[in-house]
Amino acid sequence: MKTPNPIDLLFADMDKLSPGDDSLSLYVLRSLPQHRFEVVVDAGCGAGRQTMVLASELGTPIQAVDSYQPFLNRLKRRAKEKGVAHLVCTHCMDMKDIPNVFPNIDLLWAEGAAFNIGFANALTTWAKAIQPNGFAVLSELCWLRDEIPDTVREFFRSGYPEMQSVPQNIAIAEEAGYKILNTYTLPREAWEEDYYDTLELRAKSLVNHSDAAVRDFAVETLREIETFKISEDSYGYVFYLLQRSAVN
Ligand SMILES: C[S@@+](CC[C@H](N)C(=O)[O-])C[C@H]1O[C@@H](n2cnc3c(N)ncnc32)[C@H](O)[C@@H]1O
Repeated sequence: MKTPNPIDLLFADMDKLSPGDDSLSLYVLRSLPQHRFEVVVDAGCGAGRQTMVLASELGTPIQAVDSYQPFLNRLKRRAKEKGVAHLVCTHCMDMKDIPNVFPNIDLLWAEGAAFNIGFANALTTWAKAIQPNGFAVLSELCWLRDEIPDTVREFFRSGYPEMQSVPQNIAIAEEAGYKILNTYTLPREAWEEDYYDTLELRAKSLVNHSDAAVRDFAVETLREIETFKISEDSYGYVFYLLQRSAVN
């Protein structure tokens, strides 16, 4: 019998694979000082929720990069259904290789994805490929307050030990050669609606699954959601709107 993939089971048919929302993606996109871009890359696009926003709003081809082909297949299906298939080009590849494939990027977008290769490493790696004065927009999990409930701190000690505060990430971005245009913290609803609300129900239905990997993933997901509920807004997802410096 084929071993079930916990990711496929938990995230089946979900558009959102991280906290976010179409209206927020659009708001952030529209707040950039430029609105016409030739080469646009969506790194870690997942099932492409934000790819669809970028394609519809910009009307220009979006290079959608992800290392998981089933997510890209979903994106392709959705783009076809919405009549924007001609604007969505999918690439099954590692986001760390983006500079080799796209050496002249005008806008690099990454929602809830850069952490996979490390926020600082992603910024440094992608800086090589972003045109001088080009843009990078990344959303990243960050500490928002100094007072952090013990359980929350404990969860992230193993869950995401590299997590930084917003000022620390700003310093990292500046060091990597970017100017900070703005930051924007996602509201709680962006976590709850069509994301944790769906995941919580699914995870609960999978905690007694016959496969141990599925059970473990479901339990860990419920722990993550519980941590969020008691977080007292000590952490959140923050958009960083960055512009590549004109001179290296
Ligand atoms: C949390 S999901 C976010 C997806 C999407 N941006 C969203 O917000 O719905 C992170 C995505 O990064 C992809 N990913 C993880 N490591 C990657 C890598 N090294 N290169 C490319 N994609 C990667 C995963 O397959 C997943 O689709």
